[in-house]
Amino acid sequence: MDEALQQRFNDQIALELASAYAYLQMAAWCEARDLTGFATWMRAQWSEESQHALKFVDFVLDRGAEVELQPLAAPRSDYASPLELMEQAHAHEREVTAAIGALYQLASQLGDYASLSLLQWFLGEQIEEEASVRQIVAELRMIGDDSSALLLLDRELPGRRSPARSAGT
Ligand code: FEO
Repeated sequence: MDEALQQRFNDQIALELASAYAYLQMAAWCEARDLTGFATWMRAQWSEESQHALKFVDFVLDRGAEVELQPLAAPRSDYASPLELMEQAHAHEREVTAAIGALYQLASQLGDYASLSLLQWFLGEQIEEEASVRQIVAELRMIGDDSSALLLLDRELPGRRSPARSAGT
């Protein structure tokens, strides 16, 4: 594999692990505030992001390239509200989408078709993830200060994940 591409794949592994780390922190924040449905949803995201990191690790290794893990910064741990937390999650997913797009662009310039195939899958995954988080943000904006409505959403969230997505495929 091209050296620059190998480096960028390693950067992407770090970003997916940072995503998992951030979602785990968000799960803990929600759990501590008795938002157990949100916490379950965040834990499932943690699992999915970990699977994404592994998928990139396996790909790099299968291509005969080196995996070099990077230090993980502590994720943000203070949020003013569930809305602010989900807005942060949405911003993070957008960052991941942009990184995968840039990776796709480089692989395309290099004519690395195997990478393009993998990245195509991830681009589709990001569309789903962004849409899912964006929907929750929109609902939280409608909910505002209505704690009964927030409780209803909290109860509903764990059921929103399809089996395929929960498995981190
Ligand atoms: Fe794997 Fe949600 O980025």
